[in-house]
Amino acid sequence: MINLKINNRSLEVPSGTSVLNAARQLGIEIPTMCYHEGFTNHPSCMLCLVKDTKSGKLHPSCALPAKDGMVIITDDDGLLAGVMTDRDLYKHSSPTVATSQEKILHRKK
Ligand code: FES
Repeated sequence: MINLKINNRSLEVPSGTSVLNAARQLGIEIPTMCYHEGFTNHPSCMLCLVKDTKSGKLHPSCALPAKDGMVIITDDDGLLAGVMTDRDLYKHSSPTVATSQEKILHRKK
């Protein structure tokens, strides 16, 4: 079993659990678009970004395996900036994806 903290709440999950699914066990809602339970995961939308406080880096929670001792934040200003930057990049390459991201972000707030 793996012990980690998400938004200052401790939990224990089986090995192989993603940070996204660990957060869901705590009732923490993280927006997703390209992740679908039961399908092969190719993280691309970056709506599910979370921050690993030990490294200070942002990661897509749907593709981030929970690790022992991890301390994750899901609702930080830097995260929102990361998601918004990603969304802005999509506006140029794929306006449809950017629009979908905006709808998801606003619905999840
Ligand atoms: S839901 Fe798209 S990268 Fe995680």
